[in-house]
Amino acid sequence: MSKLKAVKITEDVYWVGAIDWDIRDFHGYLTSRGTTYNAYLVMGEKITLVDCVKKEFKDVLISRISSLIDPEKIDYIVSNHAEMDHSGCLPEMIKLCKPEKVFASKMGVKALNEHFHIDLGLTEVKNGEVLNIGNMNLNFIETRMLHWPDSMVTYLAERKILFSQDAFGMHLASNERFDNQLETGILEYEGAKYFANILLPYSMQVGKSIEGILALNLDIEIIAPDHGPVWTEKRDWIINLYNKWAKQEPTKKLLVVYDTMWKSTEKMARAISDGAVSNGVNCKVMPLTSVHRSDIATEILTAGGLAVGSPTLNRNIYPTVIDALTYLKGLQPKNLVGGVFGSYGWSGEGDKQARAILEDMKIELVDENVRCKYVPSHEVLSQCSDLGAKLAQRIKEICE
Ligand code: FEO
Repeated sequence: MSKLKAVKITEDVYWVGAIDWDIRDFHGYLTSRGTTYNAYLVMGEKITLVDCVKKEFKDVLISRISSLIDPEKIDYIVSNHAEMDHSGCLPEMIKLCKPEKVFASKMGVKALNEHFHIDLGLTEVKNGEVLNIGNMNLNFIETRMLHWPDSMVTYLAERKILFSQDAFGMHLASNERFDNQLETGILEYEGAKYFANILLPYSMQVGKSIEGILALNLDIEIIAPDHGPVWTEKRDWIINLYNKWAKQEPTKKLLVVYDTMWKSTEKMARAISDGAVSNGVNCKVMPLTSVHRSDIATEILTAGGLAVGSPTLNRNIYPTVIDALTYLKGLQPKNLVGGVFGSYGWSGEGDKQARAILEDMKIELVDENVRCKYVPSHEVLSQCSDLGAKLAQRIKEICE
């Protein structure tokens, strides 16, 4: 491999990560724009590598490091997060670099040992512990459940940079390394998508972790996450968005998510949408034939309501609908009102099973299911329109 270049982030700090232009599935999340695995080299008197990359990008990491120094000159490695997109090549990097020490949080040491089942010679660091690297200092701050038990961030005081692991990250492959080189709309969408699909189940802890970091009054000029761009000019902007997303504040937006066999459930979905829009809320109709579950999750982050429609297929909820609901249930969205609808031929289990899942998700259901035998009549479509109007009314009450 020809030698790849490290990218200077600030004095003594370089990006040595990898760009994954190809990836489209990140454990169930559609990564339409690919991703990056960011690793950073801190050129202190003790040279320190902060995080690694996915195993198959090890040569990219080594190549970028080699554009600055011989990798064997690395003294320390810090593992902020044990998930394998950042630790996959850690054992091989330890073998190659022979660092004096490899640091991780208490839970990080445990998790890395449980991943690799070999003695990596890891050193546990405590929350608040400071590591002197000669002319600079690294401060370790635990951020448990942001988004794994092991997660921590590392602050380099002398360069005012926070290495934030997954926090403030996004799946966005790009040759641009900084926020001000990328379109704000793309950053907001991909940032929200990342939050919704990765961090949403822990949104309460996310809010507390951010509060905790801010309470330390660290002078942070740069946030360097493990995915996506480095935050400089838009640093406060992304912090404010995280605080907003963590609260899951509903807006006047209804999502109508459904699949259909012979267009009956589709007709019902459209009638619900009409009823909602006529009553003053925005509505996104999301057919599961063309919309990915992770894009629904992104919309849910700011939605006030969710209507779910399923046909009955072989005495069951439709496969794509159970797929989407299983995924969404795991993300534990809050502050939603809901409605259920569906068509059937004779047995009619589909919408009932969907309702049971929404109840399990603690979604406030505004009415009985609207059900249709075979093909919706005018009366059924009118009931759908009424369901849309009721959902809109309830969403407005909550939002206003
Ligand atoms: Fe990017 Fe939780 O790993």
